[in-house]
Amino acid sequence: MTDTLYIGKVPVRRTAALAPMAGVADRAYRLMCKKYGAAYVVSEMVSAKGICYSDRKTAELCTVTDEERPMGIQLFGSEPDFMAEAVKIVLEYRPDIIDINMGCPVPKVVNTGAGSALMKDVRLAESITAAAVKAAGDVPVTVKIRSGWNSGQINAAEMAKAAESAGAAAVAVHGRTRDQFYSGEADISVIGSVKEAVGIPVIGNGDVSDADSCIRMYRETGCDLVMIGRGSYGNPFVFDEIAARLRGADYAPPSLEEKMNVMLEHIRLIISLSEKNEEMAMHEARKHAAWYMNGYYGSAKFRGRCYQLSSYSEAVGLAEEFIALQRSRGIE
Ligand SMILES: Cc1cc2nc3c(=O)[nH]c(=O)nc-3n(C[C@H](O)[C@H](O)[C@H](O)COP(=O)(O)O)c2cc1C
Repeated sequence: MTDTLYIGKVPVRRTAALAPMAGVADRAYRLMCKKYGAAYVVSEMVSAKGICYSDRKTAELCTVTDEERPMGIQLFGSEPDFMAEAVKIVLEYRPDIIDINMGCPVPKVVNTGAGSALMKDVRLAESITAAAVKAAGDVPVTVKIRSGWNSGQINAAEMAKAAESAGAAAVAVHGRTRDQFYSGEADISVIGSVKEAVGIPVIGNGDVSDADSCIRMYRETGCDLVMIGRGSYGNPFVFDEIAARLRGADYAPPSLEEKMNVMLEHIRLIISLSEKNEEMAMHEARKHAAWYMNGYYGSAKFRGRCYQLSSYSEAVGLAEEFIALQRSRGIE
């Protein structure tokens, strides 16, 4: 396998990509993951209809900075016409790729017929993809799906074939059904069956959190790229770890002090990119701070304190205290 995969004409390193995550993978998050090696990033999902009615959040959600490239903008919607119109609007933000969300399980989205509801209507999914492909011109369109609607309707391969025949340039598959939401284990065998069914690149997704699980995803499914969501929480380093392992290079995980410095860098970025004041931006930063402290001695108590942070200087103090506690237990 070559080191580079092409999605349409867009070259993407065949290491690991960051999954779209509404409310988590905002620009600060994507930049941190890019800095630590993410091969490709995707925006939070954006409503196609919302954009057409000039949703005020469009610019915030759709801005693509050069440091994030290659980057996709993800749209969700249930009507081909709105999808086509939305694609034309987001093209102004010059995304490298346009991705269509056909996997979101949340009732607010599914009840409009969008997200994973499209897994139940393959023909409509195909028309939406075709409309987006036509509107996108030479910008590649990808589709992100789940394994199926429920365990009795596993139809990812059929969905992927429909996406391919509508002109999609790649398909990302999360190996869970809509009914599972995020529980249970992802069934990666479905990703393998999608790979066998289509000629376009297949992006494997679900439960990858380190180099071992990533390599397993590549090996067991034959997928062309791996996509990581929750495994990057407080752990943008996972992308470097994977890239190093795939090159056969040694990888030294960051020390606790380095990790805390990266956490503080992430918080500074959240504050500087926010249009809100520091205190309000800290509300956004709290969950990220808590994730960086996961898995250490006394983490639970510190994570609770993260949820009370209201300034950057408090975060610095908490990080120092956290490092001192770990050192007292011989953890560096
Ligand atoms: C908080 C959160 C937000 C998400 N938002 C989106 C989204 O906007 N669009 C999308 O296609 N998937 C979304 N997902 C699903 C992820 O992209 C991914 O498919 C899923 O988390 C499984 O991958 P993982 O096990 O690596 O996390 C979201 C997942 C989480 C946990």
